[in-house]
Amino acid sequence: MKNEFSSSTFGWLAGALLAATLLGCSKPPPAPPKAPPTPEEKSKNTISKAAFGTLPDGTAVDLFTMVNANGMEVRATNYGGIITALLVPDGTGKTTDVVLGLKSFDEYAKNPPYFGAIIGRYGNRIGKGQFKIDDQTYKLPKNDGPNTLHGGVRGFDKVVWQAEPFEKEDSVGVIFTYTSKDGEEGFPGNLQTRVTYTLTDKNELSFDYHATTDKPTVVNLTQHSYFNLAGDGNGDVLGHEFTIYANEYTPVNKLLIPTGKIESVTDTPFDFRNKVKLADRVNVDNEQIKFGKGIDHNFVLKKKQPGLTLAARVSEPSTRRVMEVHTTEPGVQFYTGNFLDDTLAAKAGKPYVKHGGFCLETQHYPDSPNQSAFPSTVLRPGEEYNSKTVYTFSVR
Ligand code: GLA
Repeated sequence: MKNEFSSSTFGWLAGALLAATLLGCSKPPPAPPKAPPTPEEKSKNTISKAAFGTLPDGTAVDLFTMVNANGMEVRATNYGGIITALLVPDGTGKTTDVVLGLKSFDEYAKNPPYFGAIIGRYGNRIGKGQFKIDDQTYKLPKNDGPNTLHGGVRGFDKVVWQAEPFEKEDSVGVIFTYTSKDGEEGFPGNLQTRVTYTLTDKNELSFDYHATTDKPTVVNLTQHSYFNLAGDGNGDVLGHEFTIYANEYTPVNKLLIPTGKIESVTDTPFDFRNKVKLADRVNVDNEQIKFGKGIDHNFVLKKKQPGLTLAARVSEPSTRRVMEVHTTEPGVQFYTGNFLDDTLAAKAGKPYVKHGGFCLETQHYPDSPNQSAFPSTVLRPGEEYNSKTVYTFSVR
């Protein structure tokens, strides 16, 4: 039935939770087991909801499990919109989790690498933690040396979103909404934000972002999932092959703030216009690669017309999984997990190694509020911020 939870799944989970409570468990498990699907559910797109954890202030947080008609599965919590698992078939039909994550809700409450989260109000860096709109200067908390990263100390990845699940004939998903107050993390204007996660029966996972404001502000929303198409925790991603549809990129200084130049990728390690194995690019002797400790750069997409454009294609030879990224955004931050350093409580059990995952964060360019040559990220009252990104999974 449309727009309803699967009642059998919900009932089963409620029973499991009650049993856990009676047995004296104070915390529900981070990724509760799924109810076995009924024959009818197997051929449908379904969603179920379970308790995921509780914040120190007592706020309860949920975990939504979306399953499409092909058995592809997405788990996402309304804490930061974090995707905790993404199960995708390989070339033999075997389904494996392909996103990195943490062991428990308490770990996600900190989540230093921003695993799986919605990033806002301004994704990526704002130099010196300040910017001007209409001659008024706004100062932000600095959480990345002298700069502001991913919306500040408590960005959109660390807030609880309202969540409204939906089930349709050809898709299933959750509408996440959050109002960021005027002055929150230093940004002006009450920002009404809506991010819709949709899993379709074509194995697409899409993100539709929408925002409005009551004062001029800056907005740059993105999704920070880390992928390993060979399977979560399965070593590094250096054997993955990448194509990025970008003729140019934005070079950075040693603090990863763009210099303001837009440079050709020709004859640089950033030329991914023809398929390249990542191993051939992250260990080269190049100043930009040194600054990023690997690739941590914004690619200027070839996009010439409005609407969705193919930004990147990634394939993993051993499993034959392929992931394509389409977006309406003008850029994509390609980040090769350079700061992963074995210290996290990885859900895979083994520590995440350097380059143990990659991110393709579709976005406007970093530090745009301070870079007049970059496309503007200013949103004014009466305007709408609309952005869409689709990750499509297949096998070759
Ligand atoms: C983005 C940034 C990186 C890093 C990661 C999170 O990709 O560009 O420098 O901050 O997020 O660790």
